[in-house]
Amino acid sequence: MPNDQQHSLLLRALRGESVERSPVWMMRQAGRYLPEYRAIRATTNFLSLCRTPDLAAEVTIQPVDIVGVDAAIIFSDILVIPEAMGMYLVVEEGKGGPRFPEPLRSVEAITRLQSEVSNRLDYVYNAISETKRRLQGRVPVIGFAGAPLTLAAYMVEGHGSKTFNTFKSFLFSEPEAAHQLLEKLSKELIEYLIGQAKAGANMLQLFDTWAGLLPEEEYRTFGLRHASTVLSAVREAIPDIPTLYFPKGVRSYDGFAALGASGFGIDWATDLTRANREIPAGFALQGNLDPAILLTSPENIRESTEQMLSKIPVGRPYVANLGHGIDKDTPVDNARAFVQAVKEFHR
Ligand code: CP3
Repeated sequence: MPNDQQHSLLLRALRGESVERSPVWMMRQAGRYLPEYRAIRATTNFLSLCRTPDLAAEVTIQPVDIVGVDAAIIFSDILVIPEAMGMYLVVEEGKGGPRFPEPLRSVEAITRLQSEVSNRLDYVYNAISETKRRLQGRVPVIGFAGAPLTLAAYMVEGHGSKTFNTFKSFLFSEPEAAHQLLEKLSKELIEYLIGQAKAGANMLQLFDTWAGLLPEEEYRTFGLRHASTVLSAVREAIPDIPTLYFPKGVRSYDGFAALGASGFGIDWATDLTRANREIPAGFALQGNLDPAILLTSPENIRESTEQMLSKIPVGRPYVANLGHGIDKDTPVDNARAFVQAVKEFHR
């Protein structure tokens, strides 16, 4: 399937072509900081919103119209994969994020997880094609999934956590069962990401939000290895789709060139200059403004954004973004100021 956005700013920049300016989008750009999003959310719960292609398309496009980003990321969540595999997922209003009331706590529970669930995620593919239809080529659409390690962390812990101690003790005490779970997830993720590309996604991002949870060596075993299985398989199936891996909290990029990703999201705590030095020249970088900067003033945002952009040498494939999701308390004008600063930046 040919990538219909080959000539977009995003895809040209990702190929390392010389571009008039850097493309820009924001992680979690469709969300609660937008009054227009909250208005739609007031009429329906989060999961129904994800499952209704018309509404998902509408909120996906909101930040393109309202803040002027150069790409639309499909409105969904990383946890729809475990949900499709048979886990009961609860996303309640103001109750500390999504959770699985019946987390995985035994080898049997892992064995019972369903496989080949791609067809249960048709609503995501339909949301992508509806979004493409409405956008009429204005900007590319980004598909995404959670990396195996990050999904497993939620599935075993049952909810977000500072330490993920239940998950970590499971990895350390039952490594075989853990790998079984991570392999199962990888299989589903490969089909899911390929399905998103077939539905029209022009770039794919793999979120590894909890990559920084483990000691480096264990991260290589439980995290990188399985992320690489997914990234390499997608690359083999669809060579021309850019795939970005976002490993939040990693301390080193050693070996990342071999993962199968075409680029890397850099988190806000990482020095972009170091990332640029350690990641080989042909790979794209994306990021990494601290989302908290967007809680300050437009002047401050402009200055920090310019500093960030100055760290990227000419010729490096680069996409401007935040170093993690936009905060729900961000004033919309500040989000606009960030996007505008990228658009107006001159070296
Ligand atoms: O970026 C986008 O605009 C696309 C949509 C998107 C959502 N979640 C919507 C969402 C994306 C890309 C995600 C990814 C996601 N989900 C990650 C990886 C990225 C990251 O932030 O680290 C993770 C860890 C999750 C799991 C998740 N879903 C959490 C921790 C939460 C609660 C966070 C919060 O702000 O409440 C969610 C719920 C969620 N996913 C919301 C949105 C807009 C808020 C739900 C609501 O509207 O009530």
